[in-house]
Amino acid sequence: MKPKIMVLNGPNLNLLGVRQPQIYGRDTLSDIESRLRVRARSHELAIDMRQSNHEGELVTWIQEARTTCAGIIINPAAYTHTSVAILDALLACELPVIELHLSNPHQREDFRHRSFVTLAAKGVIAGFGAHGYELALDAMAKLVKDQGAPAKPGERATKKRRAK
Ligand code: DQA
Repeated sequence: MKPKIMVLNGPNLNLLGVRQPQIYGRDTLSDIESRLRVRARSHELAIDMRQSNHEGELVTWIQEARTTCAGIIINPAAYTHTSVAILDALLACELPVIELHLSNPHQREDFRHRSFVTLAAKGVIAGFGAHGYELALDAMAKLVKDQGAPAKPGERATKKRRAK
C-alpha cells in the first residue's frame, strides 16, 4: 500500500482558472490534480485531493488524515490568515505539513502576511503558481521517505532510528 498524502484546498480554490487569473493562473484545480497524480506515481505515493469552502469541513478532513495519511499539503486560501481551528487541527494531527500558496502572499496586502498555518508547517511553498503543488509533493516525498512510511494503513509514520 502506497503512503497517502492528503492535499487540501480552501475556499474559492474551486474557482481556479477563472478567479483572478493574473494572480492565480489559468489552470483549474482538476488540471493541477491530474499533474499531481502523475508526480505522485513517480514518488510511489497516493494522493487524496479535496477542496472545501467550509472551515469545519477542512478541520474534519485534517482529523481524518491523522489516521489515514502520511502527510498533509494544504493551501488553506483565505483561512491561512484567520483560522486558529485549522492550525489546531494540523497541530493535533502530528503529521508533516506543507503550507502551499499559488501567489506569494508576502508581496500582497498586509493582511496576507500573517499565516496561522505556518505555526504547524514544516515548510512553505509560495509564489510558483500551479507548479507549487508539484514542488510541495516533491518536498513531501522526501519528508515521508526520511520518516519511514507507515507499515499499514492506519498506522502512523515513525521516525527511522539513526544507525549507530
Ligand atoms: C492563496 C493566497 C491567499 O491569501 C488567498 O486568500 C487565496 C489563495 C494562494 O494560493 O495564493 O485564496 O492561498
